[in-house]
Amino acid sequence: MLSRINSLITEINSLQINDPVELETFRIKYLGKKGIISDLFEEFRDVSPSDKKNIGQILNKLKQTATDKYNDFKNRLSFSSASSGQNDLTRPCYPWELGSRHPISIIRNEIIRIFERIGFTVSEGPEIEDDDHNFTCLNFAPEHPARDMQDTFYISRISSEDSNPGDILLRTHTSSVQVRVMHNQKPPIRTISPGRVFRNEAISARAHCIFHQVEGLYIDENVSFADLKQTLLFFAREMYGKNTKIRLRPSYFPFTEPSGEMDVSCTICGGKGCNVCKYTGWLEVLGCGMVHPAVLDACNIDSAKYTGFAFGMGIERPAMLKYQVNDLRLYFENDIRFLGQFSTSF
Ligand code: DAH
Repeated sequence: MLSRINSLITEINSLQINDPVELETFRIKYLGKKGIISDLFEEFRDVSPSDKKNIGQILNKLKQTATDKYNDFKNRLSFSSASSGQNDLTRPCYPWELGSRHPISIIRNEIIRIFERIGFTVSEGPEIEDDDHNFTCLNFAPEHPARDMQDTFYISRISSEDSNPGDILLRTHTSSVQVRVMHNQKPPIRTISPGRVFRNEAISARAHCIFHQVEGLYIDENVSFADLKQTLLFFAREMYGKNTKIRLRPSYFPFTEPSGEMDVSCTICGGKGCNVCKYTGWLEVLGCGMVHPAVLDACNIDSAKYTGFAFGMGIERPAMLKYQVNDLRLYFENDIRFLGQFSTSF
């Protein structure tokens, strides 16, 4: 027995313990209730009284050696996990990835900033609208094709009668915010309304059922088409560069009279002609016009006293031009590889 105990002491002294699992195996093997040392103490009961003192001493030494070994490695392992593991406060943290603004938000903020500088405030309206604000007050005739289900997402069509103000829909343009502003404020009004709009379009690289617009509205006494033109020229130069030219073409919108569409000289070729402007030298950027008196009246503004202009533009197109993105769908997929490319302070 003596020599067995002595060789166990030698064995324990030369043991290497490398991790917590090995440590636990060691504890169970030597110090556990059914472990080697406990067995030896069992055996010790039958040792003859003359050998008891000798063997007892060496057995206690074995127990002490095993316990010291256990405590020693327990301390060492917890120390090494603290200095190289989760608790090392001096370790550099994981790379901290900064987010970036969505390209649509960057362009929207740029547009807002330009108009804020000439006294326009920002107003917003709901994306879920009623027929009144989206169509009727904007002078859309009851049979106007834009009211068709093929263009408009209706949420509930209370009656099939056209122009029923009970119809609830996803706004098809931000012009609906004009109506809300005019109902709630007295002239002078000078506001822009950025927002998301919805149309029942097949999704492709060039069209989407969701997109963004910025609406502009200016109502006061003696507002003229010259004010509209000067405001848009200022905007175009700020947005597209100081050498940008504009041209206004006659157009039609139910809520403006006269109506126009504004083109800017192509931002890619400067007007010489390229495949982006289809060799015309011009890019169409917005619709505009003098607010129709019927719209002013529908919004309780005296059309004999006040005049105004309005304009509306999409945000996706200037964003596509600025960032040379050729597929609209990328704006809506939230792919981090796409979004991560637009870092800016705006
Ligand atoms: N609402 C028009 C659209 O969605 C854009 C527009 C054109 C807005 C002319 C206006 C405007 O305020 O005067 O196509």
